[in-house]
Amino acid sequence: MKIIICGKGGCGKSTVATLLAREYQKEGKNVLVIDSDESNYGLHRQLGFDLPEDFTHYFGGKKGAYRVFDEKGKVFDNRWHFSNIPEEFLSGEEGLHLMAVGKIAEAEEGCACGIGFTGKMFLDNLDTGDDDIVITDTEAGVEHFGRGLDRCADVILMVVDPSYESIHLSEKIHDMGMALGKPVFFVINKADSGQAAMVRDAIRDKDAVIAEIPAQSEIMMAGLKGEALTCESPGVQDIIKTVCDFK
Ligand SMILES: Nc1ncnc2c1ncn2[C@@H]1O[C@H](COP(=O)(O)OP(=O)(O)OP(=O)(O)O)[C@@H](O)[C@H]1O
Ligand SMILES: [Mg+2]
Repeated sequence: MKIIICGKGGCGKSTVATLLAREYQKEGKNVLVIDSDESNYGLHRQLGFDLPEDFTHYFGGKKGAYRVFDEKGKVFDNRWHFSNIPEEFLSGEEGLHLMAVGKIAEAEEGCACGIGFTGKMFLDNLDTGDDDIVITDTEAGVEHFGRGLDRCADVILMVVDPSYESIHLSEKIHDMGMALGKPVFFVINKADSGQAAMVRDAIRDKDAVIAEIPAQSEIMMAGLKGEALTCESPGVQDIIKTVCDFK
């Protein structure tokens, strides 16, 4: 099962990825979280892990990755499994691992396309067993749709916070997901009950709203202190109940 998590900047993508990963781990699944955000560094802290080495380095960095892919997908003729990902590109613990595709490290180092391409090729060529769950956390916006990353997932989860921009983006992501033939579901995050009702009301495809994760002070404090997320949210089970049918 491959789940991709998207949404506007700061809506709670990495938070939802972390809560979902922890819940699946508790259920005994083997979880791989893929950090495909080229800019932000928060996800590994929310998981309580070290930031692993950029997976793009496996191919010699962004430029190396281009060369490898130009050679007609030599590397990607081979399939990837949880078991053959080199250890130095993973951090984590029993049942839950994190991989980071790559980060922009220096000014004027060039665009992030090599990183995006590496992430797409990896996800596309990753084979999963029945108990394997892959959760890909994306960068804000819709660039990953443009790159074709979402085509590699079984389910698209969009996190919607209580803002006009988020609601507006939900329509666009819904349509892009449908165009790919992928199920798109919405998770309302960081809203109180009144705001959540307003967001639900504004979303066109109401059946696609599958969960609500309320604004929780434990989540906000962990975010403020840069600490691991240890709390739970009832909304996470609602996500799992729906997406388990979409492998
Ligand atoms: N349900 C929630 N309750 C309270 N605070 C939350 C909740 N969800 C997220 N936050 C806080 O909102 C901030 C943004 O969350 P997060 O980093 O998960 O968003 P993001 O969409 O991944 O952001 P980015 O676009 O920068 O990657 C963090 O400080 C986080 O702690
Ligand atoms: Mg994030």
